[in-house]
Amino acid sequence: MGQTIVLGVSGGIAAYKSAALCSLLVKSGYDVRVLMTKNATNFIQPLTFQALSKHPVVVDTFDEPNPSEIAHIAIADSASLFLVAPATANIIAKLAHGIADDMVTTTALAVQCPTVVAPAMNVHMYGHPAVQANLDVLRGRGVVVMDPGSGPLACGYTGKGRMPEPDDVLFVVDAVLSKTATLAGARIVVTAGPTIEDIDPIRFLSNSSSGKMGYEIAREAVARGAEVTLVSGPTHLAPVPGARMRYIRSTQDLLAAVTEAMASATVLIAAAAPADFRPSHRLPHKWKKSQGVPSVELVPTPDVLSTVAKSRAPGMILVGFAAETANVVEGARRKLEEKDLDLVVANNILDEGAGFAVDTNRVTFVRRNREVLELPLLSKAEVAARILDEVSALMHRDNES
Ligand code: CTP
Repeated sequence: MGQTIVLGVSGGIAAYKSAALCSLLVKSGYDVRVLMTKNATNFIQPLTFQALSKHPVVVDTFDEPNPSEIAHIAIADSASLFLVAPATANIIAKLAHGIADDMVTTTALAVQCPTVVAPAMNVHMYGHPAVQANLDVLRGRGVVVMDPGSGPLACGYTGKGRMPEPDDVLFVVDAVLSKTATLAGARIVVTAGPTIEDIDPIRFLSNSSSGKMGYEIAREAVARGAEVTLVSGPTHLAPVPGARMRYIRSTQDLLAAVTEAMASATVLIAAAAPADFRPSHRLPHKWKKSQGVPSVELVPTPDVLSTVAKSRAPGMILVGFAAETANVVEGARRKLEEKDLDLVVANNILDEGAGFAVDTNRVTFVRRNREVLELPLLSKAEVAARILDEVSALMHRDNES
């Protein structure tokens, strides 16, 4: 028998998605035990989950069919992972405050295993400070809180609040239960994509970073059990399931988001390509051609990595990238020294297969007090894995010293 997932379904319209999730978990080899709140049964019948999980579904805490055990304790003891999907604002509040007034919340207090929460609600409810504060309480307690998806919501609004897709929930469940969770407990911030510096309301300075490298690193770090914040500039990529997504626009925004995220993290992997310069001021109105050619004065933006490095806490690991077009190793070595980094992942963007928009990369690791390591042409997913192997080694080294 595989590992047991105890799936708590609370009362939101996304409860119907939970049926697909339950089916997917069963197909993936998990033994799924479903608990529902009474409100959830207004949206979907327990019989649906019973048929999919091949186990009875428990709704009533006082429904004790087996006199030799207490149902919520027996189910909690059997759990390898406790998953609440969808998690409404109400159940999130109860979980945060230890209220146990139904089968799902009572079992939540009794489990000894990791808990994953997949919120789903109206965009304004999700954004409410009470909900955000409750999610922070859960995160602080080690609960894995998934970011809801964005898009049209059942309430008619469009925005953040959709229950994460079943495939994405499965990815996070697999990651949390992974036996090879070499980064379990690590808190990692990854930056990705370009930044944008506005000239006027429609024109801007930016670069062609696709964000792919950073997104792959974030995905792999989640798969290895890390708690990941992905600070992303504008890209066309789907959010990384299980990562905390922070979207930014300018290099200044990037600095603010990274500084905030690093307050509770120990690793920064800076794969973003931030704009190094910005117009000294943003024109409030569109510059018209009839006004002639504008002259745009540029001023430097803050260097995010160097700023973090200057106030680094002991044991913090900083990884930078160096996209060069010549003298790759020398350029990377200079960045390692000047920005006070532990590892620089360098590449020549003129090399075939190593540019911005492709799925492969040919990189060289330039490391402190260690020899330069040249890797062959690899997929960006494989490069991500090699970078995280290095990060694990650095963390291990720090733990030993
Ligand atoms: N970086 C940063 N903040 C910036 C610019 C860059 O944190 N404002 C980070 C990038 O994310 C990357 C590393 O610094 O990890 C190197 O970026 P790169 O643009 O190659 O280096 P620069 O410091 O801008 O140096 P140069 O332009 O001289 O190559």
